[in-house]
Amino acid sequence: MQIGEPTPRRKLEPLCDKIGRDNVERVVHDFYGRLQANEMMRPFFANMGDFASHESLIADYWWTVMGGKVDGPRPFDMLGKHQALNLHGAAFDTWLRIFEETLLTYLPPELAQRWLQMALGIGDTMKRHLGLQNN
Ligand code: HEM
Repeated sequence: MQIGEPTPRRKLEPLCDKIGRDNVERVVHDFYGRLQANEMMRPFFANMGDFASHESLIADYWWTVMGGKVDGPRPFDMLGKHQALNLHGAAFDTWLRIFEETLLTYLPPELAQRWLQMALGIGDTMKRHLGLQNN
């Protein structure tokens, strides 16, 4: 670097740009396939008719959590939707374990960890609000 040249700023790249929309969609699609294949998890999704539109909603959800922009408003009702499901602690643990396995299938460990940390944090908040913290 020449004297007098501006110091390059460290660029903060949002996670959505590091992971990319294609990977988000791949992870989400495969994850819901794996949930469906799991005996404990399948019943929770039994009343959810249209998986494709659910997956697109969830992909947009993660995209915004990672700092990305989506077309139009996407109203999320996390607590309301999950409250109706009678979730329990073991289901949460299984959800997160399958999510971690899926992330590691598609992403290098460092990016998988960063996405997983978000899911763990959101999962903890959900559990607390659903009264499941100590299960
Ligand atoms: C035991 C664990 C979980 C189960 C069985 C579960 C199941 C479901 C089901 C069945 C729906 C669809 C509800 C409907 O449209 O009628 C849903 C919605 C959703 N879930 Fe989960 N979920 C779990 C944990 C999580 C976690 C940990 C996250 C995020 C970190 C998450 C993110 C979402 C989002 C963003 C929606 C869409 C909410 C909306 O429509 O506004 N879920 N979940």
